[in-house]
Amino acid sequence: MQPLAKALTEEEIVSVTRALAAMPAPAAVPLHRSVMPVNTAQKIALQGAWDRQIPACVSCHGPAGVGVGEAFPPLAGQPAAYLVAQLNAWQSGARHNDPNDLMGHIAKSLTAEEVQGVAAYFSSLSGQEVKP
Ligand code: HEC
Repeated sequence: MQPLAKALTEEEIVSVTRALAAMPAPAAVPLHRSVMPVNTAQKIALQGAWDRQIPACVSCHGPAGVGVGEAFPPLAGQPAAYLVAQLNAWQSGARHNDPNDLMGHIAKSLTAEEVQGVAAYFSSLSGQEVKP
């Protein structure tokens, strides 16, 4: 991303962010709270793995990962490859912009399989409707 970002002028940055902000966000339908996890990745996402000090992803990222305010970005509906790349970047130390390093510990505690699993799970949530 860095070479691409660096190639933009100040003016281009402003117009490209304006254009992106004007696009409609995909509507992610919140999961009902009573939904039970059906595999390890969903269990981590919805309930966490407290034996390894991993809180539920939804406890910060909101029900069904829809995001909370400015600080907790949405996970639902983001491409799985993007989510995997961010978690891998925290594991390797390449991403360290999180001021309180909330994600560093969490990402480092996940196995490669769990990273793939939670990413696939949250990317699948966009528009998914779960009846109460
Ligand atoms: C204690 C609160 C907390 C928990 C629990 C948490 N996160 Fe996060 N997460 C954050 C914060 C804060 C950010 C924004 C960090 C930043 O700006 O660099 C973030 C960012 C992310 C991002 C980057 C999103 C983007 O748009 O770049 C991903 C991916 C992510 N979290 C995945 C997860 C997953 C998967 C779990 C569960 C295993 C999880 N998070 C649990 C606080 C949390």
